[in-house]
Amino acid sequence: MTNKTALAAPSILSADFGRLAEAVVSIEESGGDWIHVDVLDGHFAPNLSFGPKTVKDLKPLTGLTMDCHLMVDNPQDYIKPFAGAGADYYTFHIEAARHSNRIIQDIKAAGMKAGVCLVPGTPAHFLDEVLSELDLVLVLLVNPGFGGQQMIRSCLEKLARLAAIREERGYRYLLSVDGGITTENACLAIEKGADVIVAGSAFFDAQDRAAAVKKFKGN
Ligand code: DX5
Ligand code: ZN
Repeated sequence: MTNKTALAAPSILSADFGRLAEAVVSIEESGGDWIHVDVLDGHFAPNLSFGPKTVKDLKPLTGLTMDCHLMVDNPQDYIKPFAGAGADYYTFHIEAARHSNRIIQDIKAAGMKAGVCLVPGTPAHFLDEVLSELDLVLVLLVNPGFGGQQMIRSCLEKLARLAAIREERGYRYLLSVDGGITTENACLAIEKGADVIVAGSAFFDAQDRAAAVKKFKGN
């Protein structure tokens, strides 16, 4: 059992899209730390969701960090629009990036924190050449596109490997996990090294959202 705690980042992909303002207020009132904004283009992954204007319109409603997860092709094309909208973290997929180092530099130059995400089938060593540049690594525990899926448990070993690498090499990236997180398994992810817990359906379907957030944080 660890006494390590984590930040909670509920994902609005699981919110009622007709009541997103209320969803953001509920995340803040329930003790959430970040708003996880899943951006989907229907090409990199099935499903369509939000754009920069969603972030721009939600930003004034909360003081929480806007944690944008870009499940899109050509992630370099959206850096400026999301920076202009007020995104704090811009996390793109290594699988969608031909020039990942340049994209990371461009994200930072635009004033955002740079994150990279791995789908379940991508090994941690695909990030070897960019880990030293990253503010965040997002380990996806489900295949991208939809909330409400079961966690692929083997991905937690990838998380542990990335935590060990960070320790060995003195890197400073935050480790975030995303997909299939529940109030029951969040502690497992924290034990493996997660600093940020993303949860969509487990937050929005919870009877008591504040109690769920406490569990996501490891309390
Ligand atoms: C999946 C998204 C996840 C998802 C999480 O493509 O990246 O953020 O919305 O939803 P749950 O927590 O319900 O798996
Ligand atoms: Zn996500």
